Amino acid sequence: MENNSRPKWSTKLAFILSAIGSAVGLGNIWRFPYIMGEGGGAVFLITYLILIFLICTIPLIAEIVIGKTMQKDNVGSYHAISKNFRIFGWSNVITTIFIMGFYFVVCGWIIDYFFKALVNYKMADCAQYFTSLTSDIFYAPMLGIVFTIACAFFIFQGLNKGVEAVNKFMVPALGVIMVLLAGYALTLPNSIAGIEFMFKPDFSKFNGHMVLTALGQALFTLSIGMGAMLIYGSYLPKEEKIGKNLFSIVIFDVIFALLAGVLIFCSVFSFGMQPEVGPSLVFITLPKIFAQMPCGYFVAALFFLLLFFAAFTSAISMLEVVVATFVERFNITRKHATVLTSIIVVVLVTLASLSLGAIPSLKLFGKNFFDLFDYTTSNIMLPLNSAIACLVAGWCVVPKLDNLFQYKFLHKIVLFMMRFILPIILISLIFIGN
Ligand code: PFF
Repeated sequence: MENNSRPKWSTKLAFILSAIGSAVGLGNIWRFPYIMGEGGGAVFLITYLILIFLICTIPLIAEIVIGKTMQKDNVGSYHAISKNFRIFGWSNVITTIFIMGFYFVVCGWIIDYFFKALVNYKMADCAQYFTSLTSDIFYAPMLGIVFTIACAFFIFQGLNKGVEAVNKFMVPALGVIMVLLAGYALTLPNSIAGIEFMFKPDFSKFNGHMVLTALGQALFTLSIGMGAMLIYGSYLPKEEKIGKNLFSIVIFDVIFALLAGVLIFCSVFSFGMQPEVGPSLVFITLPKIFAQMPCGYFVAALFFLLLFFAAFTSAISMLEVVVATFVERFNITRKHATVLTSIIVVVLVTLASLSLGAIPSLKLFGKNFFDLFDYTTSNIMLPLNSAIACLVAGWCVVPKLDNLFQYKFLHKIVLFMMRFILPIILISLIFIGN
């Protein structure tokens, strides 16, 4: 009975666009360029591409297969495999809630930057502006709360009218804006230096730490390890083959990251700035550059709109993990589940925002809540949940299915990696990385 009443994607394209929307987010446009900048450019890029295609597609397949086969929310899917596995589903839900705790804070800042660009607001000192924004006791948390309410509004409309509608509009729009901006960046003087930085490798910069960072980024950008792909997979028909769908998700995710790199590094080198400045690349360095460009405020508004769309479609997938689980586990309406989830997220967002800025003494285990949520999820929970998804899919789900792919040898390789290689890599990542 439960399964008949579950929603389904209206078309296959709706699933692909929504999965791309989940994957392409702040991870591609904000995080990827700055960690590539710190990681030395082209060498990081090569490592990242190898990892994303050869390693990270495996947990992506595992999550989609679990959801598609079990046709239930995250907790229900693991529970249907074994009663003892329910905890793995809850681990997905808790990880997602913590990620929203810091991700939505950054999304809030984007709203401010977008409107400031739209009214052509002139920042006298970009670094000081960013500090005062993030440390404002009311305004900073309020931005995160506004973002949460906006996402909740669409989640509340359901899978087809909410999640699908948002992604069908925003993902193509994201593509158009990205191509326009990257094309524009290529026309800037000395943009070639940015291209060289991205594509001309200097192998002396290769090191173990960089490989770990690239692996963490590849997992994060494909939305693996918190069950977003599991829940999206659960709305697919059981008999759907995943081969081509999978390819589109990974390829588009990589293309968006590369275009974001072109846009940001061509601009950075063209204006003689440094690429290794870390997280402030987008919020401090870029606004300085926009201020010097002809029609810079227009480019800035387009850029922050791009970032907003990317963040919004990812945020929607995070909320869906929690809301769908609350609906199906607690037997409550989607409306009540959305309100309950939003209240939890608002509390965490406020905590993270205040402890990062206005009340720095708000700490746990020596870290502010923003860093704590980021650190525990990225370094422990995402790789752990991904390893679990591989083990469960590899040993309990895939053996009961037909071939995953058209070619039998590919099925065998993927199964072997799911059962042995990926769990070893992911668990080692937790120990080496911490
Ligand atoms: N993939 C998103 C990004 O790159 O920003 C982040 C993300 C979304 C992670 C959804 C996990 C998730 F479930």
